Amino acid sequence: MKRLLTGIQPSGILHIGNYFGAIRQAVALQSEAEESVLFIADLHSLTVTPKPEDLRERVRGVALDFLACGLDPEKTIFFRQSDVNEVCELMWILNCLTGLGLLERAHSYKDKVAHGFVPNNGLFSYPVLMAADILLYRSTVVPVGKDQKQHLEMTRDIAIRFNQTYGDVFPIPEPYISESVAVIPGTDGQKMSKSYNNTIPIFCEPKAARKKFMSIPTDSKALEEPKDPDTCSVFALYKLFATPAQQEEMAARYRAGNYGYGHAKQALYEAYMDYFAPMRKRREEILADPGYIDEVLTRGAARARVLASDTMAQVRKAVGLR
Ligand code: TRP
Repeated sequence: MKRLLTGIQPSGILHIGNYFGAIRQAVALQSEAEESVLFIADLHSLTVTPKPEDLRERVRGVALDFLACGLDPEKTIFFRQSDVNEVCELMWILNCLTGLGLLERAHSYKDKVAHGFVPNNGLFSYPVLMAADILLYRSTVVPVGKDQKQHLEMTRDIAIRFNQTYGDVFPIPEPYISESVAVIPGTDGQKMSKSYNNTIPIFCEPKAARKKFMSIPTDSKALEEPKDPDTCSVFALYKLFATPAQQEEMAARYRAGNYGYGHAKQALYEAYMDYFAPMRKRREEILADPGYIDEVLTRGAARARVLASDTMAQVRKAVGLR
């Protein structure tokens, strides 16, 4: 793996689905890649016109939580997308090479429109900005969830088109689709997702977290009855936090009976608190140092800009702007 890059949209408070779906992997991969780049995609967020104060706060929140979860700003170039202006310039150049037909086929765009969203041009060209992110830093590997696979294919098409038109400037990036963790259930038993309003934040206030775990729906089997761990959301969540031996132990209790869902929920709550305890501690330390997040993001942006200006010098020359 040469240069690994990924972007994360600051669209809400990070929850345990985000942790097991993306953050944990980003933290693990930063030691494997020769170079790793991670940015907060604030320009992408503008496609849905968030309130300015919300956007500002979410960017800081995402930065804080990633750092608390072990993202190392020495190993990873970690910055805010909008701090590197070149991405907009590259997007324009790529726009001029991107067929409308390609963009019209984007699932995520069609989904939004099908859900009654009135589309703007930013939403339509979202994949071109994403291509600019990836190509500006000449990334070779892009870890993304399945939902972003098509966007990555579009990036590859756009890069190939550029190279054919103007000569080889960009490496063609490869997706890295993580072997997916099992679907993570939310507090209503559906997949945990911000849009279902069923999430448990990674750093939820303990009382509120306990309440959320206690509200997870279960079947109505009585205390003494044997229960099936494999169809139970409480057990599915517990597995994320527990060692194999602990999982076995809880599964045996379910099957034996005389073990209520309330007991399982309490064990789940405790496992969640234990699991994130060191990260909570780190988060408090970061919060106690008010300049730290800005410092990290500013330094990350300076490192990112070095890569960006080198790429743009080549791009401008290749297309005839210089
Ligand atoms: N579209 C991605 C998402 O919603 C976020 C993103 C923006 C991204 N630019 C990127 C991901 C570049 C990978 C590479 O998850």
